[in-house]
Amino acid sequence: MSENKKEPRIRIIKDGPYIVSGGVPLLKKGIGVDDEGNSYKWTLEVKYPNKESYSLCRCGKSKNKPFCDGTHLKTGFDGTETASRKPYMSEAVETTGPELTLTDVWPLCDHSRFCQRSGGIRELVAKSDDPESKKLAIEEGHNCPSGRLVIWDNETGEALEPEFEQSIVMIHDPLKKCEGPIWVRGGIPVESYDGHEYEIRNRITLCQCGKSENKPFCDGSHWLTKDQMEEWRKKWDEKRD
Ligand code: FES
Repeated sequence: MSENKKEPRIRIIKDGPYIVSGGVPLLKKGIGVDDEGNSYKWTLEVKYPNKESYSLCRCGKSKNKPFCDGTHLKTGFDGTETASRKPYMSEAVETTGPELTLTDVWPLCDHSRFCQRSGGIRELVAKSDDPESKKLAIEEGHNCPSGRLVIWDNETGEALEPEFEQSIVMIHDPLKKCEGPIWVRGGIPVESYDGHEYEIRNRITLCQCGKSENKPFCDGSHWLTKDQMEEWRKKWDEKRD
């Protein structure tokens, strides 16, 4: 890396945007669905021109999305960061199958719905001695943009993570007719407004709509209503009991 080249980094401004530095490529991708409406692939929609640094809207109100246009200053955006600062593994719930294990931190869910095909990822992990189920479980785990779901190989004890170039993807959700979160890929550090560095992970999703109750991370509020969110949480609690 040349002397002038900065390492990729995202800095969160208090009640303001994400400042991205280090020449991180910026793309927009859509969620592709199958005949049953299940998410299963990513489609490239836009490749933005390369820039050394840029600021991404965090309040959801910019007229120049995905970039910040200063609207947060006029609307009094409250961007308080409420997410846990504990490491992923300290909060993860495990589901163990014959060949694979799934770890899950549900508050990180961005509701992109890649984990629902063929009975869902838990069922597939439970049948992971069947090659087809194993393959699909790994695929569904890899497609989870938030990294809520991580698949582990029981034999090696290693996480089976997808490989990403360090990049940022603005997610578009055509089925829900809305823009989704900011998908941060390849282990880019994210620094909170007060200087805390969140755990560096291969994939995370940051809120761009301003509505998440788990800021800076997306919690699905870009398309889920409060009632739907409540219902989802209840279902989740029942599953865990
Ligand atoms: S982008 Fe998902 S909750 Fe804001």
